[in-house]
Amino acid sequence: MSPSALADLHHDKAAVEPHSNGLRLSNGHTSVVASKQTEYLLDRNLHKSFPVVTGGSGNYLYLLDGRTVFDATGGAAVSCIGHGNKRVIKAVSTVMNTGISYLASTFWACEVVEELCKNLIHGTDGKMARIYLTGSGSEAMEAAIKLARQVFYECNPSTPRINFIAREGSYHGNTIGALGMSGFPLRRAPYEPFLMNNVHHVSSCNPYRQRADGESDSSFVARKAAELEAKFQELGPETVIAFVAEPVVGAALGCVPAVPGYLKAMKDVCHKHGALFILDEVMSGMGRCGTLHAWQHEDVAPDLQTVGKGLGGGYQPVAAVLISSRVVNTLLNGSGQFVHGQTYQGMPVQAAAALEVQRIVQEEDLVDNVKRQGLYLEQCLRARLADHPNVGDIRGRGLFWGLEFVKDKTTKEPFDPKLAVAQRVYNTSVSTPFNMTMYPGTGSADGLKGDHVILAPAYNVTKEDIEYIAQVASDVVHQVFRKLGNL
Ligand SMILES: Cc1ncc(COP(=O)(O)O)c(C=O)c1O
Repeated sequence: MSPSALADLHHDKAAVEPHSNGLRLSNGHTSVVASKQTEYLLDRNLHKSFPVVTGGSGNYLYLLDGRTVFDATGGAAVSCIGHGNKRVIKAVSTVMNTGISYLASTFWACEVVEELCKNLIHGTDGKMARIYLTGSGSEAMEAAIKLARQVFYECNPSTPRINFIAREGSYHGNTIGALGMSGFPLRRAPYEPFLMNNVHHVSSCNPYRQRADGESDSSFVARKAAELEAKFQELGPETVIAFVAEPVVGAALGCVPAVPGYLKAMKDVCHKHGALFILDEVMSGMGRCGTLHAWQHEDVAPDLQTVGKGLGGGYQPVAAVLISSRVVNTLLNGSGQFVHGQTYQGMPVQAAAALEVQRIVQEEDLVDNVKRQGLYLEQCLRARLADHPNVGDIRGRGLFWGLEFVKDKTTKEPFDPKLAVAQRVYNTSVSTPFNMTMYPGTGSADGLKGDHVILAPAYNVTKEDIEYIAQVASDVVHQVFRKLGNL
């Protein structure tokens, strides 16, 4: 059954009329507001109304206004096995039914938590040694930042290592430490005066915007390695704790994979100076890019790695730090304690959800499906959009694809941010007749200007789903720019 036929099946015909607070839906005697400005929740945008979702199944979200929306992004690359998976729901209920609602990790151990960690370590082919579980990607980044510092503090409490090097065009989370790490001017702006001043940024690895004419991958990578080396020298190599990067940049740039050889070159610079190499795979990891871990694409294991979204697939708030034996051994030979902790960490219910999601991904060979369908998605997107005058770049890996929009394809000039191009694409996409999600982002050109959207469907999509996604994406893009041209 085609995605649209399935959507039609669900669609129950309800009368929808405009309402000051969104859409009013009339069903016989009852009438409810189907799209709602929240009154009690401090939502992301207090001036907007959001469609009310009443259910989900697989690729679909069911809305109160009767529409069925094809979820081609899983939020921000979260719902990796789709919505409403019965196995995961059962696994979560089973844990809750044991009566273990909460366990303080300060006092207790729990089998399902250990089982999840064992599963995750196996997935690294032994390249990582321990797991630290958190409730969000930002918390995982905070933990990684502190753990990295502690590695040096353990050996020498007056260690001069206080600096981090991260990258422009990056996003590592919204808590103060993680935001301080992020090269994301729009999200940093209100808090800039008190973000960590020991984080220094080098340029991203973005060939679309940075590669010189005729520059080979190896020359490009050599240029990036030289820039990192120069930053180490500027700060004093003995003061640097770690370099932090996303192997495939997510929200900040819109699915920009590192150029071949880049990760190895950066890791070499770090290790030459005794610093740690940290990869943030909160968005790009756990199968999203066609290998379980994005670093496995070129087998460049980090010293510390964070994962998040695809770990629990949205069934529980869960994220993790994967820790190499170099780091674990420092703790084991030192204090034996990570000086960190939060009330909600390593919760049995989080672990049960994540473990079941990972088992499904493994048993159904979904990472392989990501690789195959991802190649097909690339092909379908290029066939439909590569020639579009406002699609500057189509890039990504696995089921993680970005479209960057430009005003002028030759000069790569971005649109005026006032036009809110990415938001327009999202608004059009999620509305009738398209009813499909595309994840919008801005700042991809220079941190402030630039528009992109991300496509990140569930790992179990079919060839037919891919064709549908690419066709809808193409129709949306054509419609948005046709209308913009008429403004
Ligand atoms: C690469 C990356 N790191 C960290 C985070 C923060 O994760 P969370 O929103 O779960 O705190 C995100 C979220 O989008 C992310 O994409």
